[in-house]
Amino acid sequence: MRKMIVAGNWKMNTDFSEAKELAQNLKNSLSNYTGDKGIIIAPPFTNLSEVGNIIKCTPIQLSSQNCASEESGAYTGEISVNMIKSVGAEAVIIGHSERREYFKESNELLLKKLKLTLNAGMQPIFCFGEVLEERESEQHEATVDKQLSETVFKLTPEEFSKVILAYEPVWAIGTGKVATPEQAQEMHAFIRKRISENFDETVAENTSILYGGSCKPNNAKELFSQKDVDGGLIGGASLKAEDFVAIINA
Ligand code: 13P
Repeated sequence: MRKMIVAGNWKMNTDFSEAKELAQNLKNSLSNYTGDKGIIIAPPFTNLSEVGNIIKCTPIQLSSQNCASEESGAYTGEISVNMIKSVGAEAVIIGHSERREYFKESNELLLKKLKLTLNAGMQPIFCFGEVLEERESEQHEATVDKQLSETVFKLTPEEFSKVILAYEPVWAIGTGKVATPEQAQEMHAFIRKRISENFDETVAENTSILYGGSCKPNNAKELFSQKDVDGGLIGGASLKAEDFVAIINA
């Protein structure tokens, strides 16, 4: 059975004290959590260790927002998966559209990051999605298919079974323009069908596919109630404990 998951991507927000406060608020709000959704937060690298200490012994799991594409060595300024793992993180967000766009991360590079993350025994949260022009010219499925085919579909079924997918239409990220539940369901069903064709139906049924892009407390319930939407990857609304908890409880 696949799991419902709500993950918060804090992006380049929160300094050290803000991160501690947000983590503490989440810990307090979720101290009596009895729901069955997995909960993940991804603070900036500089706050991973401290946030990890705060959320220890809570249902909240720790993720980074990125990792280096090499294992170790002379790569000034980079952070390896082993460094991330060593401060208690269990997951790594890979392939976010902001990294694809601003840092020109290619599918080839993302596949390297996926392998490194899996080899370290960590869980990739793999992001992908089309831009507005692709949606408007009805190329959204072809775009997503290519993004998946050149990355996660090259993994073994065993490797792939550890991956969380996050469909994030770029036009919905940070814009307040959320995909309709029908648009999300249609794409998620397409993704699941492609997983089934590439691996098999059992693998497809067991894959958590999150939706991301302007997901808020007021639209989360409807999105999450779609048959193939297994939770969300939340940006802006994950920076307010109250909103993030409302989405978890949606
Ligand atoms: P918003 O929720 O702010 O639209 O961001 C979504 C996102 O990019 C999560 O990774």
